[in-house]
Amino acid sequence: MCISAVSVVLLLFILWMLVVKLCRQADSQSDGDAKESKQPEAAVPKLLHSLSKRFFGSLSPSLSGPPSLPLLGNMLDLAQEHLPIHLTSLALRYGNIYRLNCGSTTMVILNNSEIIREALIKKWSDFAGRPHSYTGDIVSSGGRSISLGDFSEGWKAHRRVAHSALHRCTMDSLHSVIEKQAHHLCQVLRDYNGKAVDLSEDFTVAASNVITTLTLGKSYDKSSEDLQKLQDCLNEIVSLWGSPWISALDSFPLLRKLPNPPFSRLMKEVARRDELIGKHIEDFKKNDHKKGGTVTSSLLQSLEQPQGGASQMTLTETHVHMTTVDLLIGGTETTAALLNWTVAFLLHRPEVQNKVYEELCGVLDVRYPQYSDRHRLPYLCALINEMLRLRPVAPLAVPHRAIRNSSIAGHFIPKNTIIIPNLYGAHHDPEVWDDPYSFKPERFLEGGGGSLRALIPFGGGARLCLGEAIARMEMFLFTAYLLRDFKFLPASKEEPLPDLRGVASVVLKVKPYTVITHPREK
Ligand code: HEM
Ligand SMILES: *[C@@H]1O[C@H](CO)[C@@H](O)[C@H](O)[C@H]1NC(C)=O
Ligand SMILES: *[C@@H]1O[C@H](CO)[C@@H](O)[C@H](O)[C@H]1NC(C)=O
Ligand SMILES: *[C@@H]1O[C@H](CO)[C@@H](O)[C@H](O)[C@H]1NC(C)=O
Repeated sequence: MCISAVSVVLLLFILWMLVVKLCRQADSQSDGDAKESKQPEAAVPKLLHSLSKRFFGSLSPSLSGPPSLPLLGNMLDLAQEHLPIHLTSLALRYGNIYRLNCGSTTMVILNNSEIIREALIKKWSDFAGRPHSYTGDIVSSGGRSISLGDFSEGWKAHRRVAHSALHRCTMDSLHSVIEKQAHHLCQVLRDYNGKAVDLSEDFTVAASNVITTLTLGKSYDKSSEDLQKLQDCLNEIVSLWGSPWISALDSFPLLRKLPNPPFSRLMKEVARRDELIGKHIEDFKKNDHKKGGTVTSSLLQSLEQPQGGASQMTLTETHVHMTTVDLLIGGTETTAALLNWTVAFLLHRPEVQNKVYEELCGVLDVRYPQYSDRHRLPYLCALINEMLRLRPVAPLAVPHRAIRNSSIAGHFIPKNTIIIPNLYGAHHDPEVWDDPYSFKPERFLEGGGGSLRALIPFGGGARLCLGEAIARMEMFLFTAYLLRDFKFLPASKEEPLPDLRGVASVVLKVKPYTVITHPREK
């Protein structure tokens, strides 16, 4: 009896997976055809099609978008392998602002810097919300994280406290924390003695140590089991949460009743994360609470004081816990992925490495750079800006939600619409950038035509990346140290250079490659 119920449910699930798979194949075939007339609906079974009328949502009539399938809406568009590129190509057909449907919610995709700025900065108070979702609540302890928490008085207090705690630590020690990690990273690379290696792990360790030093006053060795466990767990959560099997649960509540192995994994990893972080915070309270100077100690202190204002906002231990998660997730893979991209692009363009090196030697002689030297190192800064433009590592930012009726670019946007800023699209807009797909650091030199206004890798407004200042200093010092001390060479003449298209999930990453780090003579 019980067994047969389970098998019926399983069968339903498998059937559903098959439908998705079939549609996806049909969709990618029709994508291959340049002909627009061949719409994906043609591939959907008649039975589903007949249901379609019931499920076409009540959309903002003024916005166009790709045809949406019955039941699934535009889920297939959202399940595309390289989502930012796919969304950018849809903009070619449907314009710089268009809609996609996902279950009963409408998403609006913004493909151009000015439109993104209008929504995130000019009308920030209309679009500062985050979508509520079933799975989002699970990974954020019921929306009590900064990144996924919806806009509310409580969220504002949380973000304000975290921001000032970060700011204080940043003022005191950020530069020396990053310097220490940069020196350490260079030592690790020197120890490879010219072997061909995959550097991604070293970048992750360096970025992660900056964050753990700021939050918990601790750094870890590459071989540390604690660090490995934590990183594995956080990466797993981010990649599982981005997978279509899990996002489907948000749009189709019925599916929550079916067995879903990726979802069970997600629940398990979230529990493991909370255990690991909980242990770190307990240790911290026991041993280092009085030390001060870390984000966690500032946050714990602020728990003891009531938050100002008539509204009785109290932060809880869960908020402290989730802030640590926010900073670790937001601050590790992003910075590491960007360093990864930089090395990958430099292998393709060795002359850029040499130019940075000559600039460093010319300006600093043999001294290591300080962040305050950045105004005298325009070429290095141009390289970093060009990397942020070409490979914004959070290519679709984090979805926003309209908290009231509003408008973008003259289109009516009803309350609860989900807004997706396509930063990748904005950074490749031919109206703004000459030859947008080419790697040209020179465009950011004086008179090079690069627009800093249109460069928005950190988003903007109320939801501006909380770690922007940290990320910028890290990028500058890490890149400067690496290029001062090493020349990056392809692993061998036979092997192809790294693939620059990348793999996009939540973070835009480069595919695995190896590199030789050749020390520069001093
Ligand atoms: C190159 C590195 C980085 C890039 C490109 C980046 C980019 C972004 C973007 C695009 C957003 C979403 C903004 C939006 O919703 O509109 C974001 C949010 C966030 N980032 Fe970063 N980030 C980077 C590094 C960091 C670092 C180092 C930290 C922490 C120290 C961090 C912490 C966060 C947090 C907490 C949020 C959520 C903010 C909120 O929802 O209010 N990020 N980041
Ligand atoms: C928001 O727009 C909807 C139409 O989509 C309308 O029915 C509703 O009254 C509006 N709400 C407000 C507060 O203006
Ligand atoms: C959207 O962005 C892409 C890439 O940046 C660009 O090619 C396209 O022209 C943009 N769409 C519109 C309607 O301008
Ligand atoms: C960096 O690149 C390597 C390949 O060298 C890849 O295996 C790894 O996942 C990347 N890491 C990040 C954080 O992007």
